[in-house]
Amino acid sequence: MADLGLQDKVVIVTGAAAGIGEATARTFAEEGAKLVLADINLAVVEKLAAELGNDALALQVDVADADACQRMIDATMDRFGQVDVIFNNAGIAGNRARTGKQTLEDWRQVIDIDLNGVFYGTRAALEPMKAAQSGVIINTASVDGLMGMASIPHYTAAKHGVVGLSKATALEYAKDGIRCVAVCPGFIETDMTKTTLGPDEYAALTAMMPMGRGAAPQEVADAVVWLASNKASYVTGCPMVVDGALTA
Ligand code: NAI
Repeated sequence: MADLGLQDKVVIVTGAAAGIGEATARTFAEEGAKLVLADINLAVVEKLAAELGNDALALQVDVADADACQRMIDATMDRFGQVDVIFNNAGIAGNRARTGKQTLEDWRQVIDIDLNGVFYGTRAALEPMKAAQSGVIINTASVDGLMGMASIPHYTAAKHGVVGLSKATALEYAKDGIRCVAVCPGFIETDMTKTTLGPDEYAALTAMMPMGRGAAPQEVADAVVWLASNKASYVTGCPMVVDGALTA
């Protein structure tokens, strides 16, 4: 990649232990960024932090816990003194059921992690970013944040919420030098899709893709890292779709 200006930028990635988050953390590290790797799975992010070096910090964070998200920002400030980028990416697919059969427990769990978690991370990161009059917030939504998806009403609602929250944040903080973008991946080959879909459904979905394949997590990571860079300095507010023409 061209020089993206990310050398020594302080970047927080949630959901960094696997899939899109891990690929993105590795790509930021290649650009010389200082990483904060947050995940519910501490052992994996500790291992990744040791591998990436450059003073990377591993934190156990449940993004559904607002206090834990605040502690993540406090720990970042203690270690590095700034927050340049936050990638609010942790998420789950949740159990599948049509709206009338959705349990309250399943509904609340997905909204808590996939929507509230993004809000908590954003809210906490805004304080140091506003003080610095600089920052980039990238939130993982989904193509399900742009169109309806049957049998995952909680996920669809959460991801539409992430798109809306990202637009509002972008508008509110545009004059403070803070950009905010929702990334909307299509069908990405990660544990999430591999574990929630049966093999037949996985194969059928793959065949349905306009490009005849799902995306590698790296293909989302590259978009995220570009968005975080100074090459995307006028890109804010609009969702970025990385879906191989699925919603075209
Ligand atoms: P993944 O399952 O491979 O990785 C998710 C990571 O988030 C894991 O490391 C997991 O431990 C962590 N995590 C889960 N709950 C957490 C919590 N409460 N607090 C902190 N960390 C938590 O999933 P993948 O596919 O990489 O998904 C990442 C994001 O991308 C999610 O927000 C997902 O909704 C979104 N997405 C994924 C798509 C796909 O096709 N895989 C498509 C569109 C969006």
